[in-house]
Amino acid sequence: MKTVLTGIKPTGTPHLGNYFGAIRPALSLAENPEHRALYFVADYHAFTTVHDAAALRASVYEVTATWLACGLDPNKTSLFLQSRVPETFELCWVLLCCLSSGQLERGHAYKSALDRGEAPNGGVFAYPALMAADILLYDVDQVPVGQDQKQHVEVARDVALRFNHAFGDTLRVPNVVVGEAPLVPGLDGRKMSKSYDNTVPLFLPQKELRAAILRIKTGSEPLSAPKEAGPSSVYQLFRLLATPERAAQMVEQLAADPGYGWGHAKQDLYQAVEAELAPKREQYLRLRADEAYLDEILERGSAQAREVARATMDRVRSAIGIRK
Ligand code: TRP
Repeated sequence: MKTVLTGIKPTGTPHLGNYFGAIRPALSLAENPEHRALYFVADYHAFTTVHDAAALRASVYEVTATWLACGLDPNKTSLFLQSRVPETFELCWVLLCCLSSGQLERGHAYKSALDRGEAPNGGVFAYPALMAADILLYDVDQVPVGQDQKQHVEVARDVALRFNHAFGDTLRVPNVVVGEAPLVPGLDGRKMSKSYDNTVPLFLPQKELRAAILRIKTGSEPLSAPKEAGPSSVYQLFRLLATPERAAQMVEQLAADPGYGWGHAKQDLYQAVEAELAPKREQYLRLRADEAYLDEILERGSAQAREVARATMDRVRSAIGIRK
């Protein structure tokens, strides 16, 4: 049995890029019977940037309802809330004292905030230590993350090795597994990302979803001209949903069917997205409206996670001389 853990930062409404890039691959990992999956909502990571109580609270519920609607089975996977495991913040402090400030200065979240001319707060600086605590508390084997989080997980590996060297074998050293995240282009052809304002929110109402898909940028060839599917967002998104045969058919139609234009391709894409998401949207709306149920799921998952966290923290305290 391998323990797989990942965190989801609640900083906005989940979009198609999150779905294809993170949610779908994480759910398929969780379905593997060889895996014990721990997935959590990293609310205190979001607090490094979201200083708006209502927005933070809403985003936690949106993310929780989204994962459940997309098929996460809370009886098999512990879905929990970072803030409900206070051991996280105690371990974070211990790890901060074991990391050099130089290593934190090289953290890419911190560096890019500086590059953007911002004055990042101490939480942004300590971000990799909090993330290391999230990971090292749970005796984790694998941490599936996107390329952008790889460096942070490496900090967790590093600090675990250093800790074990100094205080004896105490923490399990995790592996990073970088998901071969598919390229998910946004409305403008760049990577779909909240910061580019080019996302398609996952659970838009049907009409708005259709309107969003019709807004995707495409070439402006006349209908009958041969069109190249490969570089277009429409095709790249379609490929993530359709069977290989259906995707090949779109390539063929765009190239050779004088009656098939970008408008038709968008309509096919819309239908594919709608077929995939309509049942999940219905679930999502039901779940999102039931905050008491979402609280209960998070509470249950957090109690499970906390049991492991307590045991780890006992070992850590005794290793460093804070307690016998
Ligand atoms: N920092 C991650 C992100 O922004 C979220 C996260 C927090 C996380 N703690 C984690 C991911 C621990 C993996 C493991 O996406």
